[in-house]
Amino acid sequence: MPQKVTVVGAGHVGATTAQRIAETNLANVVLLDILAGIPQGKALDIWESGPVCGFSSQVIGSNDYADSADSDLVIITAGIARKPGMSREDLLATNARIIASVTKEVTRYSPETIILVVTNPLDVMAYLVNKLSGFPKQKVVGMAGILDGSRFRSFLAQELGVSPQSVQALVLGGHGDTMVPLPRYASVGGIPLTELLDPEQIERLVQRTRQGGAEIVGHLKTGSAYYAPSAAAAEMAEAILLDNKKLLPCSAYLEGEYALNDIYMGMPVVLGGGGVERIIELKLTPAEQNLLLQSAAKVKESLKLLEQLELF
Ligand code: LAC
Repeated sequence: MPQKVTVVGAGHVGATTAQRIAETNLANVVLLDILAGIPQGKALDIWESGPVCGFSSQVIGSNDYADSADSDLVIITAGIARKPGMSREDLLATNARIIASVTKEVTRYSPETIILVVTNPLDVMAYLVNKLSGFPKQKVVGMAGILDGSRFRSFLAQELGVSPQSVQALVLGGHGDTMVPLPRYASVGGIPLTELLDPEQIERLVQRTRQGGAEIVGHLKTGSAYYAPSAAAAEMAEAILLDNKKLLPCSAYLEGEYALNDIYMGMPVVLGGGGVERIIELKLTPAEQNLLLQSAAKVKESLKLLEQLELF
């Protein structure tokens, strides 16, 4: 039997994620949304690209969670997106209520699924899904570090005039202004980045990475990024569906790792068929650890706001 992936939310991020997963040919896809007609229309459109794009995955759109039953993976993208001037945290109360009702339905129909959370504010929404689902921590994971890392890699490649594929880079921490790009762990064709760029150049690109989401919102004005976010979500989906145990930065539940507890944050994890199979603990310098703790403090502030909503 082919595997089954449900994407909840048929906005730009959800629809492009559904498209990318269908194109991998790894699973049948259900695109789910409360808006009548939108998931049906977009799913049909994606499915009709199959003969040209060379995939045979089924893609259906639905407004009924019953159609998501027994999914192997559910990707939650539902929620409102940022407008210029808004932080990801400004979305918290609205999206928390949406995610609470989505989680209830998802877990009812797919009690064994892995859940990949994409909705912002990302680390807070992943925490909420974890608490409400009652799932083991390995089975609820958030997407952010791959996106932030992909932006950092793109900027570095442009600065160096090399292919982005030659650039490896890691971004940890919360998915917000306090995210922690780690230049010391970045490399270009195996050469440490710090050998190739001076600290001022690196710092400029670190700052651009931190503002990467806002830069796109500033251009679009009516919403936020979706091509790079859906590419990142699809890479995670592929790692889970293929059980290929890729080492990827993902938002994961921490219980003592990096001296952090009861929080979701971006960490290097081994992602496979079991979800977050392992969290890799890197040796950080005191300055890096400090940045990570500052980022955690910011996520904890948002978790306090979440608790006030009394959803769990
Ligand atoms: C971004 C939003 C989607 O980083 O969080 O583009």
